[in-house]
Amino acid sequence: MNFNTDIFEQFDKKWALLTAGTADNFNSMTISWGGLGTIWNKPVATVYVRKSRYTKEFMDTNEFFTVSFYPEEMKNIIGVYGSKSGRDIDKMHYEGLTSKAVGESVSFEEAMVTLLCRKLFVQRLDEANMLGNIADTFYGDGDSHFMYIGEVFEIL
Ligand SMILES: Cc1cc2nc3c(=O)[nH]c(=O)nc-3n(C[C@H](O)[C@H](O)[C@H](O)COP(=O)(O)O)c2cc1C
Repeated sequence: MNFNTDIFEQFDKKWALLTAGTADNFNSMTISWGGLGTIWNKPVATVYVRKSRYTKEFMDTNEFFTVSFYPEEMKNIIGVYGSKSGRDIDKMHYEGLTSKAVGESVSFEEAMVTLLCRKLFVQRLDEANMLGNIADTFYGDGDSHFMYIGEVFEIL
C-alpha cells in the first residue's frame, strides 16, 4: 500500500500513535514529533520519546514498533493517549481502539495507515549539541528525548 501525505501536517497537526510491545503486553502514546525519510539506503520513520514515557520501556525492549495514523474524528481518543500514561490507565483495552497484532508488533483496527518499523538506531538527544535556546525551551526539566530511527518494514 502507498502512503501519500504531507509529512509536515501529518505529525504536527494530525498526530499519530506510537506503539511498542506484543499483542498481550504493549503500550501506546500520542506523538506529534517525528519524520519519514531515508538513511542507510532504507526508508525510515524517526520518532522522539522522552525518557519519562512508559512507552519508552516498550521501545527499548522490543525490536519493532508501529506508527499509526487515524481519521480526524478520532482525535479526541488519540488525545487521551497523549494526556494519560499507560502506568495509570489500561491503554491495551481503551474504549474506541481495538488492538491487533501487526507482524511482531501491535497497531489498532481503526488506523488508516500503520507503519511497521524495525528499530535501527537509538540515541539520547544531547542538550549540549542543541543550538540557540532549544535546550532551555524544551529541556529545563531534564526529561530528555530519545531519537528512535526505525526501518519502515511494511505499510499497512
Ligand atoms: C498532541 C500530542 C503530541 C505528543 N507528542 C509527543 C512526542 O512526540 N514525544 C513524546 O515523548 N511525548 C509526546 N506527547 C506526550 C505523550 O503522548 C504523553 O506524555 C503520554 O501520556 C505518554 O504516555 P505513556 O506514559 O503511556 O507512554 C504528546 C502528547 C500530545 C497530546
